[in-house]
Amino acid sequence: MSHLRLIYASRPVDHSPSLQNDILATAQRCNARDDITGALIAREDLFLQQLEGPPLLVDQAYARIRQDPRHEGVRLLVRRHTGWRLFPGCSMRVAPGPDWMWTPEQVAVGFPAKAPRPEIEAVFVRLWREGLSTPIRGFRFGRRMRT
Ligand SMILES: Cc1cc2nc3c(=O)[nH]c(=O)nc-3n(C[C@H](O)[C@H](O)[C@H](O)COP(=O)(O)O)c2cc1C
Repeated sequence: MSHLRLIYASRPVDHSPSLQNDILATAQRCNARDDITGALIAREDLFLQQLEGPPLLVDQAYARIRQDPRHEGVRLLVRRHTGWRLFPGCSMRVAPGPDWMWTPEQVAVGFPAKAPRPEIEAVFVRLWREGLSTPIRGFRFGRRMRT
């Protein structure tokens, strides 16, 4: 079955746990309904989200997300069809920015938009590898723990 994989980056307008919880709750509810899976990296300076699922529903979710006032500067980085999901069974998980990702200085000058597409996709592959055996909320990346 063909899935659409979509990755975008944006800037949060506010980096509070309650905002992240609200976003996660909405994302999980809508994505479970729409058969969409994925992951969201949430940093003070960056949201980076991968969505995967039925093409039409993924495009519709992205159209809603783009208009959401809780972030700005939304930029589409990857949109391609694929035969498989990286995060099957996971309607959405939130991860803090892992320390091997782009630095705040790099983000300030235009990353990840400036990075080659395979490098952007590789972020989620590594995230998946590191977070594979952990629960959706409070799961571990490297040595960092999110509560
Ligand atoms: C960073 C971020 C990530 C989001 N992720 C999703 C998501 O994965 N799926 C989704 O349906 N909505 C997501 N949303 C919420 C949407 O913007 C929107 O509020 C939601 O889809 C409900 O849309 P509706 O109010 O038009 O029904 C996200 C919002 C933000 C700011």
